[in-house]
Amino acid sequence: MAPTSSTVSRSTAPPRSPSPYRLFNLDVFEYLHESPFGLYGSIPFMIGHGARASSGFFWLNAAEMQIDVLAPGWDGSTTPENGRIDTLWMAEAGVIDAFFFVGSEPKDVVKQYVSVTGTPAMPQQFATAYHQCRWNYRDEADVDGVDAGFDEHDIPYDVLWLDIEHTDGKRYFTWDHSAFPNPEEMQRKIADKGRKMVTIVDPHIKRDSSFHLHQEATEKGYYVKDANGNDYDGWCWPGSSSYPDMLNPEIREWWADKFSYESYKGSTPTLYIWNDMNEPSVFNGPEVTMPRDALHYGDVEHRELHNAYGYYFHMATADGLLKRGEGKDRPFVLSRAFFAGTQRYGAVWTGDNSADWDHLKSSIPMVLTLGLTGLPFSGADVGGFFGNPEPDLLVRWYQVGAFYPFFRGHAHHDTKRREPWLFGERRTAIIREAIHVRYSLLPYFYTLFREASVSGIPVMRPLWLEFPDDKETYNNGEAFMVGSSLLAQGIYEEGQKSVSVYLPGKESWYDLRNGSPYKGSMSHKLQVLEDSIPSFQRGGTIVPRKDRFRRSSTQMVNDPYTLVIALNSSNAAEGELYVDDGKSYDYQQGAFIHRRFVFADSKLTSLNIAPDNLGKKKFTSDCVVERIIILGLRSGAKKAIIEPGNREVEIESGPVSLRSGSSPVAPTIRRPNVRIADDWTIRIA
Ligand code: NOJ
Repeated sequence: MAPTSSTVSRSTAPPRSPSPYRLFNLDVFEYLHESPFGLYGSIPFMIGHGARASSGFFWLNAAEMQIDVLAPGWDGSTTPENGRIDTLWMAEAGVIDAFFFVGSEPKDVVKQYVSVTGTPAMPQQFATAYHQCRWNYRDEADVDGVDAGFDEHDIPYDVLWLDIEHTDGKRYFTWDHSAFPNPEEMQRKIADKGRKMVTIVDPHIKRDSSFHLHQEATEKGYYVKDANGNDYDGWCWPGSSSYPDMLNPEIREWWADKFSYESYKGSTPTLYIWNDMNEPSVFNGPEVTMPRDALHYGDVEHRELHNAYGYYFHMATADGLLKRGEGKDRPFVLSRAFFAGTQRYGAVWTGDNSADWDHLKSSIPMVLTLGLTGLPFSGADVGGFFGNPEPDLLVRWYQVGAFYPFFRGHAHHDTKRREPWLFGERRTAIIREAIHVRYSLLPYFYTLFREASVSGIPVMRPLWLEFPDDKETYNNGEAFMVGSSLLAQGIYEEGQKSVSVYLPGKESWYDLRNGSPYKGSMSHKLQVLEDSIPSFQRGGTIVPRKDRFRRSSTQMVNDPYTLVIALNSSNAAEGELYVDDGKSYDYQQGAFIHRRFVFADSKLTSLNIAPDNLGKKKFTSDCVVERIIILGLRSGAKKAIIEPGNREVEIESGPVSLRSGSSPVAPTIRRPNVRIADDWTIRIA
């Protein structure tokens, strides 16, 4: 087809890619950390942002696409100075079904894009906590040992994952019975601590006539066909394999039924799913995928929709989990391949990265880009998949990973074991601290996932999404925002002693660990310590935390909250808290708590912002606020008055963070014990 071109403008020109960006879902072995080649997922959407306006272009087409970002002034009709950048879009097949979005700021464009492709699924609470994975946890004893290791070392985690070796010869939905003789019992033991498990289910089905799934798919004619109309036969983990045609709604329905407890023997309600290799990966296929002339439902050639195969597979799996629970619980399915709209079905990750500093660094722009293209729930393998990370790299990766929306440690089977306690006591303590930071911020993350599920605004954001007028932020891919209140800067070099951190906006920022203030709109050269990465709370915000550490997020449900108020130059601040049952869809019928906290004129007010016409279901909570830390408070006030009740509470010096050892202090309202579900005010007297 004829190439089309579109124009985007930015005040700061992005570096021109030496070759076009290639949108073709591929399983690339040891992918390079910065390259425009095709990788596991494709989203044909581009955002342009300049000082005056933002715009977006989305071409809904799942065939191979190439997008060339042309050099400024390439055709002589524009000059580099006018800031205009042209892009050239080419697709191998398909129709032109394109959308233009315009807005006064980039968030407008993201919202419009999400209104076209679908809002992100609200995850269960546990899925936003820490996940422990490895290819492979070998057997039930190994699972027990890793699970116990977290408890022995006082490190919380929520989910233990099993990779392909847990199956009987890579026949998904089966178990290797010698290694996993009692899968239900194993999951029950994990679930007793409030934890979950995940097993992998890939799309390639072993062509083994004694395998019931293969028999059924063959009999029903459910496989993708080759150009001659025979079942397509490709090579993957199990050897000779075929691939269900996920484009066909009837086949998706069939696939979804495979997740019922009767069908998936050994599965229990606390087992969730990982979809891998769904680009689809075919070891002996052209470019390690399916030939373009393979045939799908309706005799459509694979080339027409290659980039959507993984999306449909993910969709069918998520549907399966929904069905098995009779539509009550939200599914959790991680997928490697993705396409526009994947956000409706679950999380994605950045695939097989490597245990080196460059991959740690490039994980930030990768996760940020996914967020801007509608996928808020993503992360990179903490530690790096291939190779053995130097212990210092592993530690830095945990410190950054604690801020990824999807936070999972994972490793290739040829690597050394790397559970967080294997690198000496000091490093164990630092990793524990990083994971604790994530657990204490879970109420904030969950509130951000709520925002994402309503508006599409991502959880992890580039600085320019929050500060669209500040050109200093445009090319910063090293620091990032979590929501609109927190900023973190990774450390991406071995032995780094100092780092320059740009803090945007006119308000001050407060160091997350010690509450020290830093001026906005400038760069700060900071000393780098081994035990944390620079992270800040923006002046003018209120962040909800839970600071009591448990074994898993489930065990924190009834714990009291800490509110951290970071005052701006007008001595004011605002923040939100969203809470629901953490697992069901009752929130869609109004069963949630949504509060806005406003601090102004020396008074903190908790306001209900949940619309009351959403439905009949109610959710409430007896959780209280046990501590309110006020950063930037200049008055020496010693008391606060709580209304209703005219109750007086003390303001004392309290620790800013609940780290082991001593922590710097800040004015703290101790034990106000106001319920998060109620309206109240607390006035500083
Ligand atoms: C490739 C995936 O990207 C990786 O995470 C996984 O461990 C292996 N396949 C084995 O399943």
